[in-house]
Amino acid sequence: MISIKNDKDIEKMAKAGSIVSEALKLMESMIKVGISTMQLNDEAEKFILSKGAIPSFKNYNGYKFASCMSVDDVVVHGFPSNRLLEEGEILSIDIGAKILGFHADAARTFAVGKISRQKQRLIDVTKQSFFEGLKECKEGARLGDMAFAIQHYVESHGFSVVRSMCGHGIGKKLHEDPQVLNYGQKNTGIKLKNGYALAIEPMVNLGEHEVYTDIDGWACRTKDGLPSAHYENTVIVTKDAPIILTI
Ligand code: MF3
Ligand code: CO
Repeated sequence: MISIKNDKDIEKMAKAGSIVSEALKLMESMIKVGISTMQLNDEAEKFILSKGAIPSFKNYNGYKFASCMSVDDVVVHGFPSNRLLEEGEILSIDIGAKILGFHADAARTFAVGKISRQKQRLIDVTKQSFFEGLKECKEGARLGDMAFAIQHYVESHGFSVVRSMCGHGIGKKLHEDPQVLNYGQKNTGIKLKNGYALAIEPMVNLGEHEVYTDIDGWACRTKDGLPSAHYENTVIVTKDAPIILTI
């Protein structure tokens, strides 16, 4: 069942969205060589709580932290840690917040100090792939149209789309129907309706698309060890351009 959000729901989700977006900006401003992802996580968690919101990920399926911190070959679901970030690494931060009964969820990939041109291109293509998908995200379009647009953009730049994880509906629960794949065929999948809330989140690998789960049971890593990037926003489907709640 896919829930339709009314104007009141959307207002609440927008509150959650602005808290998530501010938390990401706060962490971005702190990123530098020699800081730990735990420090970033702790500041963001304090910020979310100070707004009267709750970190969506903490205690979700046994996850212990407010954020996911995924460095280089970690695609998603890395734990924050006390290890200090090093020059040239890329860090994907994923965070969610719940307020007034509704969640918002977003992710960005950031550079630590000076990074290679290849890593910068990976970050840029991942972000742009979200916006290419968004062009196909409106009432009456099908999920496959968006999935195809993301995959086509990513692959035409020589990178690959992670298949084993996807975006999702979002609202009163962090993960709702439908699944939002980042690869697929035009003219397939369900038709989007006004009031659907979706977390669209392409995960893009510099090398091959295959991934595996680390022995910690959470961190998802690229099989070839090459870096991966992530870009996610929570959006509301309308008859025209979607409303982005987390920028
Ligand atoms: N944004 C992530 C997702 O949609 C949420 C992380 S799962 C958690 O899959 F368990 F870490 F919360
Ligand atoms: Co998500």
